[in-house]
Amino acid sequence: MLRFFKKKEMKTWESERLPRHIAIVMDGNGRWATKRALPRTAGHVAGAETFRRVATYCKDIGIEYLTVYAFSTENWKRSEDEVAKIMELLEKYLHESIEKMERDKVKMKFLGDISVLSQNLQDLIAKTEELSKKFDGVQVNICLNYGSRAEIVRAVQNYADSIKDTPDAPRLTEENFAKFLYTADIPDPDLVIRPSGEMRLSNFLLWQTAYSEYYFTDCLWPDFNENELDLAIATYQTRDRRYGNA
Ligand code: IPE
Ligand code: IPE
Ligand code: MG
Repeated sequence: MLRFFKKKEMKTWESERLPRHIAIVMDGNGRWATKRALPRTAGHVAGAETFRRVATYCKDIGIEYLTVYAFSTENWKRSEDEVAKIMELLEKYLHESIEKMERDKVKMKFLGDISVLSQNLQDLIAKTEELSKKFDGVQVNICLNYGSRAEIVRAVQNYADSIKDTPDAPRLTEENFAKFLYTADIPDPDLVIRPSGEMRLSNFLLWQTAYSEYYFTDCLWPDFNENELDLAIATYQTRDRRYGNA
């Protein structure tokens, strides 16, 4: 039976056709905790561990970009306590990442409006990005106070500002527009994974995932692991990406 197989034997994907960029909606922390009669915040603690594990695995197998949805522009609707705990966990995570940076060698970027976060968090983010920019093995993008609609509106505004003194500016193209998004210089995701059984994007990378492959699983994010990722990648490799071609 499959569950008695060793991890190595469960790997069913081909290394030649790995997705270059995987994006994940890290969802299901609250339900994972509630199922165990724990406070929702315990789910966020467990979810942060899963993130570390999955990011390490992505690096080990040669994924170039991993983008995770950590906190959305809509997540401020949650209780003050829950939001505070998530921010506290983020600070802890960033401190640890800075400490382990030379060992882990992961380039890290933050996508979203971080200007409303605490000064301490903003400083930690700036430090993490600065110290990790020299690494080129894997790039991990953390979407924080990120919402795709806000990102698109911001891009339109920034584009308009950029041409306001240039009446003969060339007409805007898709490629030029994409340069105004937080994801400028990052290729579009090949594979989007949403655990926890929800089948929606929840305002995640609407522009960038126009031609991504989607993979949904009932597994809650804290239960997600290397085997689940193997399964998602193997499923991705069965897809026929046509991009509108016949
Ligand atoms: C995802 O897990 C984490 C964040 C949105 C910050 P949830 O907290 O949304 O977990 P569920 O969906 O309530 O189970
Ligand atoms: C999406 O999950 C945002 C993150 C995982 C950070 P949500 O739990 O906020 O999404 P909805 O509310 O179920 O759509
Ligand atoms: Mg959720």
